[in-house]
Amino acid sequence: MKRLVLVAVALGISAEAFATTVSNVEGRLSHTLDGSWRAIIDLYGTGYYDYRHEPRSRGFFMDEKPKNESDFVEYDFDRSGTLNVPGDWNSQRESLLYYEGIVWYRRTFDDPRSSPSRLFLHFGAVNYEAEVWLNGKLLGTHEGGFTPFDFEVTGDVRPRGNSLVVLVDNTRRQEAVPTLDTDWWNYGGITRSVTLVEVPETFVSDYLVQLDKGASDQIRGFVQLNGPRLGQSVVVSIPEANIRRVFATDKTGRAEISFPARLSLWSPKSPKLYDVEIAAETDVVKERIGFRTISTRGNLILLNGRPIFLRGISAHEEAPFRAGRAFSPEDARTLLSWVKELHGNFIRLAHYPHNENMTREADRMGILVWSEVPVYWAISWESAKTLDIAKQQIRENVERDKNRASVVVWSIGNETPVSDPRNRFMRSLVASVRDLDSTRLVSAALERHYLDEKTQMIDDPLGDALDVLGVNEYVGWYDGLPEKCDTLNWKTAYEKPHVISEFGGDARAGLHGGVLERWTEEFQESIYSHQIAMLKRLPFVQGMSPWILMDFRSPHRVLPGIQDGWNRKGVISDRGQKKKAFFVLRKFYEEKESGETK
Ligand code: GCU
Repeated sequence: MKRLVLVAVALGISAEAFATTVSNVEGRLSHTLDGSWRAIIDLYGTGYYDYRHEPRSRGFFMDEKPKNESDFVEYDFDRSGTLNVPGDWNSQRESLLYYEGIVWYRRTFDDPRSSPSRLFLHFGAVNYEAEVWLNGKLLGTHEGGFTPFDFEVTGDVRPRGNSLVVLVDNTRRQEAVPTLDTDWWNYGGITRSVTLVEVPETFVSDYLVQLDKGASDQIRGFVQLNGPRLGQSVVVSIPEANIRRVFATDKTGRAEISFPARLSLWSPKSPKLYDVEIAAETDVVKERIGFRTISTRGNLILLNGRPIFLRGISAHEEAPFRAGRAFSPEDARTLLSWVKELHGNFIRLAHYPHNENMTREADRMGILVWSEVPVYWAISWESAKTLDIAKQQIRENVERDKNRASVVVWSIGNETPVSDPRNRFMRSLVASVRDLDSTRLVSAALERHYLDEKTQMIDDPLGDALDVLGVNEYVGWYDGLPEKCDTLNWKTAYEKPHVISEFGGDARAGLHGGVLERWTEEFQESIYSHQIAMLKRLPFVQGMSPWILMDFRSPHRVLPGIQDGWNRKGVISDRGQKKKAFFVLRKFYEEKESGETK
């Protein structure tokens, strides 16, 4: 990040892009920049630093061509290889599978506008750090690999032959979020779509249209304008529900909105979405939105005021059938259809915000979502910079998905070790989430410990700040054998709903043997049978998301012939093979589902 600040200071501009200026890009007039981009692999940062490790003024970001036969230019994007966008670079070239560092991307484009309008350059996500130049001018930077950001380019774009250069750096750092160690592959690159978005001079930059906290018949939210004409009247309408309300924005372009609404509520059984229109005098934006309430009472989770058991599964953003970062609507549909096949109604998107196709598809398919930021394992709890980055990712995640009915839980982290600095850090994140969104549940995946050899205890001090407690446990895999579940007692310090956010074990699809033979489908199946029987005995368990839906790549997993760089805890292999445990879990969820009242 030091690199970013150096250039920004030199150029006297504010470096970092925070969140997006244009929300709901999907609902806007937009032009994709996806496709094949030129790319330079820059292991030593040559395109950026000179031999004294000082920033260059004529770095690769200038996208120069030699002016004449003697001019010294030691790179050439047009004669360099290509990489697909969106996509991680690791799965696109064998030689880049383990690559971590700097890659320069370059794309040229002509101004797509047919009428005078403002133009924004939007990135769905870039892992991990991005520095973006247009025609040699630094537009800005962004840190964080899983949330969107954008830059206005209205005044910078030329009619033809624009040069867009993006430096992407996925080097792992102690102070970053996530930090140095993760049990997932550090896929680098422009991993989600890049789009040019056209909007009017004064446009609707942001809005929230959701039910008020705990109210199934009252909508509360806001509309925000951006541009010279901030004082306008805006109409919020939901035609199918005969709703048409007029509000006036104040001099900052903001209108708080609140009105009664009789709506069919969204739920997994009936994922009802409404066409919602926000019309200002100078702009109109539409979106399909569902309305539901989510709350807790004692150790119950209430969806639309009724107790619900979260029949879930965890998932990484690993692409089914082809490996690499998932990003497309098809990837989302495949992964979520498997959840439906399990008779599931819930998915834990681990351990970072997944792409927007996932949460929008969950809205359509009726699957509740746990959305998490990668505050994972041993983060730098005492670093103010790390806290800022974590909060930025939370803000960007909430801002992107605040109108998604499917998203019901904001998780602030996973398996973070109890300590005073950690507790302070995590409590501060809880406060940030609650400031941004008081309508959803706040959680985290916590650990437990043994009171005695027969009793597990859940008493992480962070529990008192959360609405729902996620609990990760690997009884039968890292902790004893499957039958250990049969005699284990559980205690909790909290009268709150608990979701068993992880349990499971590795199995190589197609490997068969005795129930005590590790790595076989039979061993994994046995873990699921014993775990489900154990968890059924615990009244505070109101949901589960076993680890994990599909095998995923991880540098931690090196067992030859079994793992070969993959965590094999999926109930489905990365090739779509369903393991025996899949059917044990499906049977349990089918029973649960049929036992539910309509
Ligand atoms: C941990 C962790 C996961 C990891 C899993 C495993 O609990 O949260 O990220 O992949 O266990 O060991 O497979």
